[in-house]
Amino acid sequence: MRFKDKVAVVTGASRGMGKEIALAFAREGADLVLAARTVTKADEKFKTRPGTISEVAEEIRAMGREALVVKTDVSIRSDVENLIDKAVKEFDRIDILVNSAWSVVFKLDPLDDLMRSDVSDATIGTFKGIVDITRAVLPHMRSRNYGKIINITSMGGKSKVANAPVYAGLKAGVAHFSRSVSAVVAGEGITVNCVAPGIIDTASTYDCYPGMEDIFNTMIPAHRLGKESEIARAVLFLADDDSSYITGVTLSVDGGITEF
Ligand SMILES: NC(=O)c1ccc[n+]([C@@H]2O[C@H](COP(=O)([O-])OP(=O)(O)OC[C@H]3O[C@@H](n4cnc5c(N)ncnc54)[C@H](OP(=O)(O)O)[C@@H]3O)[C@@H](O)[C@H]2O)c1
Repeated sequence: MRFKDKVAVVTGASRGMGKEIALAFAREGADLVLAARTVTKADEKFKTRPGTISEVAEEIRAMGREALVVKTDVSIRSDVENLIDKAVKEFDRIDILVNSAWSVVFKLDPLDDLMRSDVSDATIGTFKGIVDITRAVLPHMRSRNYGKIINITSMGGKSKVANAPVYAGLKAGVAHFSRSVSAVVAGEGITVNCVAPGIIDTASTYDCYPGMEDIFNTMIPAHRLGKESEIARAVLFLADDDSSYITGVTLSVDGGITEF
């Protein structure tokens, strides 16, 4: 058990990669703090994709690990501060923070997320969430001289995305923000890294780009979409003390699609 008795906070844990990452930590012995806006089925009625953090917590408890559920909209600073306060009160520590929450809604039209202000505003909100949560968690990690922060960016933060320039720009921003913070706290036992998924076999990919699997398989050197479990494994590597001398990097997990 690589993460026995470690405490990991995972945002965006109600579904998709965040959920997979949370379950992977629990399988390796960690206790979890799960954050998202969807806590119960009642919250799901406005969502296009199913999944609640209460259900994920049940799966984690069934593995014998603890799971704290905190309803959090990461775009609201007081929610983010409440998340970190509750985590520290419950477990007295935060060893690992994974920011997977992100507002992911694309259409194929060029400049789509820029021209739809509701989409850009929601995306900017999730970017701001990473800044706010980093501000909230760092004092705890610094006081213990220990911490692993892993932010989920995207291959879109490394190359052009015609239909989602706001997404692309902000994901590049997360990577550079992480790199800049990492340099300051590297001497305090804290690492800050990113995982940049390529095109992953998730519900959000199929919602955003329906019917495009064959095109994707041709574009991707590995000739297949990535799996959520492959993203989770990269996150666990960066959260593990085996990677203690790695900080400030963005690890592409994309089947070779990113050009640099
Ligand atoms: N899927 C891909 O192929 C792909 C590729 C590259 C990068 N990524 C990145 O990977 C991460 C996960 O993607 P995914 O495909 O798993 O997405 P997803 O299925 O749409 O899940 C997004 C998660 O973020 C949460 N979330 C969204 N807005 C939030 C907010 N304001 N406050 C709190 N939580 C919020 C959602 O929970 P609630 O709705 O319950 O709040 C959900 O748990 C994202 O950072 C995404 O940009 C994905």
